Amino acid sequence: MSLIYVLNGPNLNLLGKRQPHIYGYETLADVEADCRKVATELGHEIRFHQSNREYEIIDWIHEAREDGAGIVINPAAFTHTSLAILDALNTFEGPVIEIHISNVHKRESFRHHSFVSHRAEGVICGLGTEGYQLGIRRVATLIKTSEKK
Ligand code: DQA
Repeated sequence: MSLIYVLNGPNLNLLGKRQPHIYGYETLADVEADCRKVATELGHEIRFHQSNREYEIIDWIHEAREDGAGIVINPAAFTHTSLAILDALNTFEGPVIEIHISNVHKRESFRHHSFVSHRAEGVICGLGTEGYQLGIRRVATLIKTSEKK
């Protein structure tokens, strides 16, 4: 049973209350429960975290270097600003999937660039909170494929 890190950036603690017309009514606790369900079904354990502080996300990525098989990350606004998170992800050897609840390409142009996309194996955006479950499925597939090599 390998470990998948699910990491969430700033303001996602307010999911369900924050701009629900954009991000929906599911809370982060709901998302965590959904992620645990899918991960268990696929035979994986998850470590689920959220922080409003960039360094904490970087520290969790470093932790994942030690014991994580894959990372699913919604870096939220840090997506568009954080070279430091990209650098941290570049030190991680397993698969990385980037998630956005909203379709960032349909929104303001400053949301169109992602530092994290330079590293991610795939990006899921605009599928609502369901994107997390799909991200876990994809990471699990990539972990399995790399185990076979
Ligand atoms: C987001 C999109 C980002 O542009 C925004 O800053 C967020 C959430 C999303 O999940 O759609 O906080 O990552």
